[in-house]
Amino acid sequence: MKENKFKVKTICCIGAGYVGGPTMAVIASKCPNIKIYVVDLNDERIARWNSNDLSDLPVFEPGLDKIVSQCRDKNLFFSTDVNNSIKEADMIFLSVNTPTKAKGIGAGQASDLKWIEASARQVAEFAEGKTIVVEKSTLPVRTAETIKQILSSSRKNSNEEQHNQEFSVLSNPEFLAEGTAIKDLQNPDRILIGGEDESSIEALAEIYQNWIKDEKIIRTNLWSSELSKLTANAFLAQRVSSINSIAALCEATGANVNEVSNAIGRDSRIGNKFLKAGPGFGGSCFKKDILNLIYLCKFYGLQEVADYWEGVLKINTWTQNRISKAIVQKLFGTVSGKKIAILGFAFKADTNDTRESSAISICSNLIEEGANLWIYDPKVNPKQIELDLNIQSSCKESISSWNTSDSIIEAAIDSDAIVVLTDWEQFKYVNWEEVSSVMRSPSWLIDTRNIVNHENAISSGLRVWRIGIDN
Ligand code: NAD
Ligand code: UGA
Repeated sequence: MKENKFKVKTICCIGAGYVGGPTMAVIASKCPNIKIYVVDLNDERIARWNSNDLSDLPVFEPGLDKIVSQCRDKNLFFSTDVNNSIKEADMIFLSVNTPTKAKGIGAGQASDLKWIEASARQVAEFAEGKTIVVEKSTLPVRTAETIKQILSSSRKNSNEEQHNQEFSVLSNPEFLAEGTAIKDLQNPDRILIGGEDESSIEALAEIYQNWIKDEKIIRTNLWSSELSKLTANAFLAQRVSSINSIAALCEATGANVNEVSNAIGRDSRIGNKFLKAGPGFGGSCFKKDILNLIYLCKFYGLQEVADYWEGVLKINTWTQNRISKAIVQKLFGTVSGKKIAILGFAFKADTNDTRESSAISICSNLIEEGANLWIYDPKVNPKQIELDLNIQSSCKESISSWNTSDSIIEAAIDSDAIVVLTDWEQFKYVNWEEVSSVMRSPSWLIDTRNIVNHENAISSGLRVWRIGIDN
């Protein structure tokens, strides 16, 4: 391996969210000689990253609290001082949010790049000397071109050569999944670095080489790297929609989706991961990244390709609606005034994140039908649920309302049905005999994740519906 001349001593990461915080914490733990500033405009978020109460970190990820406590204030710093941190850094990660555009051209599909543009402008204004700018956010193909233009125009606008600025732009998308972020960062399947200048690519590769074998580091051009990230998420989401579509067919035909998943997953060409039927995929990225891909396809005149990927999203929405309809149907065609316990609101287990969670649309559909929901989730803050459902808790005048519960049993009291929406480990071990004894008969257990001990539930007198298995 060639010795690279440019050594990174100070990193600035703009954006202290689900990606910026955990990613920088792991780099700090693996590279004690690199000083890392994680900066954000959101002072409440930064205060929580600096909180002495490690259970109050803004992101819940197994193992994150330990790493933060080891590195914080040694070589890992959380701050709102964006400008000075940019000035000090020789490598800057852009890890800001890139949601779907809400209005204007491309609304509802294209990525809103205003946060990327704002942070690139800040870098252009405050960076000094040679600075490697790394796209960590997920971005449409050719965004690096825009970033390069912003960075170079800053020098053109200036009368004098601004602090000897010299920029190089890399793409280094993040593949971590929430709930397993620390494990994924410590032992990734691969690291992808796209760039044009070898010295900068190797400067970033050298950081990862502190704990990752070079064989796992893929070097590509900028555009392949940007497009690979969107493509990876689209393929993963496509698998979930594929198995969810087959789950419905299983119910209609008497096949069992778990058996089908196992049978096809044993084919090494298909592989056994991402074949679990569920209530539809959630999370902040799958939907927005596919929308972004669809927008790009249309932009480049590839309507048929856009239609193909649109199908993945259609099946997802259809799956969410199909589940709420099935619940209403099981409860004699109406849920009006009935209490329903909802187990899990996060979009998957081991995270407090609810962005695009299928629970939001399924719960909203049930509330719309007049149900009274009691929601239990071990990690999601009730305020977040309120924001997501966009209505006030316990609206007394209305029979349709929702509450949060501190326990499964409290949620279950007098309920007509329990609906499992998130695959939290603890839902596998519920004592259904105890739970069914406090419910109203006839009582249903709807398992949209196929994780409960259904034999125990059935023998406790519950009527059980499991996705892709029973009809
Ligand atoms: P997030 O919303 O949790 O965090 C982004 C942070 O950036 C926010 O705290 C926001 O205040 C901050 N920010 C925005 N503009 C800023 C500016 N100009 N200066 C300083 N701070 C600024 O988002 P996230 O989930 O961490 O995602 C970030 C990016 O990473 C997105 O592009 C996303 O698609 C991608 N990604 C996310 C995941 C994931 O699991 N969440 C995984 C891989 C990739
Ligand atoms: C996903 C990708 O897995 C990451 O590689 C990527 O970095 C990230 O998006 C991103 O770009 O944000 P994440 O959304 O955190 O990660 O979680 P996943 O494990 O991919 O799950 C996504 C959704 O699909 C969840 O709602 C999950 O419950 C659902 N899912 C997943 C299934 O229903 N069945 C499966 O077999 C797998």
